[in-house]
Amino acid sequence: MSDEALMPSEVRRKVLSQHREIEQMLSELEAGVAKLGEGSVDAAQVKRAAYALRGILELHMSFEEAHMVPAINDADGFGPERVRHLHAEHAEQRRELDRLVDAIREASSPDGLVSSVTKLAQMLRVDIEQEEREYVNEKLLSDSLIPSDPFGG
Ligand SMILES: [Fe+2]
Ligand SMILES: [Fe+2]
Repeated sequence: MSDEALMPSEVRRKVLSQHREIEQMLSELEAGVAKLGEGSVDAAQVKRAAYALRGILELHMSFEEAHMVPAINDADGFGPERVRHLHAEHAEQRRELDRLVDAIREASSPDGLVSSVTKLAQMLRVDIEQEEREYVNEKLLSDSLIPSDPFGG
């Protein structure tokens, strides 16, 4: 992994593409859990997929903390407050993710598995949508950070 600073537009592009991949994985996980009754997918496969997803999400959050945090910190005067908020959200997401992935691994019935996978997918879709609205946009992650009104109007 490189520590090189990325341009804000590049950070935005990469975070958005990671979000689309995560959503794809969530759809596959949901499709898998829906097939539990058919016998083509078993509980162990769903549990392994959920565990792999947690690893990918950890990499994704670490990428955002390494590259998106510096960019949104520098975007305007609200940077430090925004960064505190993002770190608090990630801490909450890590707790929820651990809780739900543990529930998936410990699920002893297909219904329990379906319910935990559904909760996990819902939570992550809401988090992604909110994060894109708040941070991953052209207003904050733009390469041309010229104050819109440099002389204070
Ligand atoms: Fe995030
Ligand atoms: Fe994200």
